[in-house]
Amino acid sequence: MSNPIRSISFLSTFGFVLLYLTSISSDAKKVPRFFIFGDSLVDVGNNNYLGTIAKSNVEPYGIDFTPSGGKPTGRFCNGKTVLDFAVDEFGGTCYPPPSLSLSPDDDGTLCGVNYASSGAGILNETGAIFLERIDMDAQLDSYANTRQNLISNRGGEKATELLRNAVFPIVIGSNDFIDNFLTPVIGSQKYVPQDVFIAQVIDRHQRQLTRLYNLDARFIIIWNVPPIGCMPVERKVNPQYGGKCVDSANEVVSDYNKKLKDMISDLRSNLSEVTLLYVDMYYVLSGLLRHMSDYGIEVEEVGCCTNVGPLVELLPCKQTSIYCADRSKYAFWDPYHPSELANKISVKRYMDGDEIEVQPFNIRRAMELLGF
Ligand SMILES: *[C@@H]1O[C@H](CO)[C@@H](O)[C@H](O)[C@H]1NC(C)=O
Ligand SMILES: *[C@@H]1O[C@H](CO)[C@@H](O)[C@H](O)[C@H]1NC(C)=O
Repeated sequence: MSNPIRSISFLSTFGFVLLYLTSISSDAKKVPRFFIFGDSLVDVGNNNYLGTIAKSNVEPYGIDFTPSGGKPTGRFCNGKTVLDFAVDEFGGTCYPPPSLSLSPDDDGTLCGVNYASSGAGILNETGAIFLERIDMDAQLDSYANTRQNLISNRGGEKATELLRNAVFPIVIGSNDFIDNFLTPVIGSQKYVPQDVFIAQVIDRHQRQLTRLYNLDARFIIIWNVPPIGCMPVERKVNPQYGGKCVDSANEVVSDYNKKLKDMISDLRSNLSEVTLLYVDMYYVLSGLLRHMSDYGIEVEEVGCCTNVGPLVELLPCKQTSIYCADRSKYAFWDPYHPSELANKISVKRYMDGDEIEVQPFNIRRAMELLGF
């Protein structure tokens, strides 16, 4: 398989010329630039710069990530994240770099910026157990700064045009449940009833999405929360389920997802000229686990990479962790995160799936309609 990242590093001058030509030619396809928001499912290294225990810039993370030659990058996966695969599908020439790796005056014109931070949530108190993280509001602040830089460098009109033709994927919300609602003791927040909590998260997220729209985003792709009760860590801490998915956790996020979907469809009718996709990651991943043998996957209960010993099982992998030889037999890479294979299979559904999987239509259809 040809590797776009490696080729641009060999041919960077040529790559720049190509990008430049594509961006000035009016009938060429749009340059895919991505401004990415989220948590560890899509972090590509912001947490490397933070004082946090949610770090993955150690082996064996990245062992199957070909663009880095198998070296860790800060991705919480053995290989590509869902958004790496999505960038490939758009024909992107580089993966948007972590915002903290860029100079404060970067304007994201090359291929966008990734603001995602492991442990982060929609609510800013979420993820306190991990110490430092960049919550969703702070990620938006950082995007607002990128946008200001773009306006300074290119002028307001050009900046607006460029941003209105970019893609804004958002993969966040899991931590608001895993490290907040479901564990009120370690969240800084005291226990609140489920309805109240979910209403808070939805309300905050609605404001965030509206703010993003007001900052020129017009193609926004929102992933819902996956079946967190099926993560190896949840199975481990709830042994009464005998290694099966923890229904009680899944029911909470299903309730949230339903309300998220309603909010997004409301937002779609409130905001003009916006393409807002709702991606049902919950449905896609549950289906993948149910039919995993169709894909040659044999293990879902534990991640490929595990720490040995009590309690440390709940931590991310590190150099001393043991890991499986054949990653393609595992649905999960570590106690929290899907394997590269699971990401690859899911992205196929996000790109080409039916209207249950992505509403109102799949990403491929949106690309066609928007000229990517
Ligand atoms: C969360 O946001 C509130 C309100 O904007 C602010 O007062 C508080 O300091 C923030 N907390 C964190 C942990 O950032
Ligand atoms: C849509 O607009 C209505 C009327 O202004 C408002 O009450 C509602 O909160 C908005 N919904 C969203 C999701 O923005």
